[in-house]
Amino acid sequence: MSFDKKVTVAHLSDLHIAGRSDRHQLSRLEFMFEEFIRRGYDHLVMTGDLIDTASPDDWLILKEALVRQGLFDWNRATLIPGNHDLIDLEEEMRFYNALNPDDGFRRRRVEERLREFGDIFRPLISGNGGTGAGLPFLKVMRFGALSLSLVAVNTIDPWSGSDNPLGARGSVSRQTLQALAAPEVAEAISGSFVVGLCHHAYKVYGTGGLVDQAFDWTMEFRNREDYLRAMQKLGASLVLHGHFHRFQVYRADAVTFINGGSFRYFPRRYGELTIGMDGQWSHRFVNVAP
Ligand SMILES: [Fe+2]
Ligand SMILES: [Fe+2]
Repeated sequence: MSFDKKVTVAHLSDLHIAGRSDRHQLSRLEFMFEEFIRRGYDHLVMTGDLIDTASPDDWLILKEALVRQGLFDWNRATLIPGNHDLIDLEEEMRFYNALNPDDGFRRRRVEERLREFGDIFRPLISGNGGTGAGLPFLKVMRFGALSLSLVAVNTIDPWSGSDNPLGARGSVSRQTLQALAAPEVAEAISGSFVVGLCHHAYKVYGTGGLVDQAFDWTMEFRNREDYLRAMQKLGASLVLHGHFHRFQVYRADAVTFINGGSFRYFPRRYGELTIGMDGQWSHRFVNVAP
């Protein structure tokens, strides 16, 4: 492949695959992956809520589809989990809250699922394509003269009856922020085009109405300002995210945030990022023919 002029990235989010019986969605996904191959994208990014069930068996369905298309490769695809990948809301509400109100227990359950996610999606979610798959990670890829760095963090917080009733509020952990601030990170991405990946939306648009305000609260990115500062420090031009099912492009200070919408609800639409060798970039949402 020649990268003389540009590098192209396809972005999907919020697939919410609901098991093997979700045939319609799965055939659309297969079609979309084939479309990406036909159009010759250099890389595919998926920003969480890959499945709807937080069940590792369902992650395998996605893995198998990526393998079939030759996309299950460190160089070809990168993905991160969303709240629906790591939290089974029904399970939390029905069983764990009543039996065990301990917060540490809930956090450990999210961490355990995150480890399983790492096991299944290694090598897509590791810095070097090998062992130690997990979030956060930094992937520095070279496409001819262009170096592209993906800085991926986990923003999924455990469910909490009072504080996170839908499991949809999120934050980036203090340890992750510290890891991002390490001099080795700045050194590794120096001279690179930096793109942040997270699941939660920096901005959730409400109308200001009371119902909307309540809804916004349940899915907010709690420490989004800390995250924004960390991304700015790393010189990130862009952040790709999902969670709030709308296709959007907006800015916060010097960083452009791109919401990849939801493949579940708009399965003909995806984001296309084009980066020139000079670091100039452009983005558009593409609609594919039925
Ligand atoms: Fe979602
Ligand atoms: Fe989400």
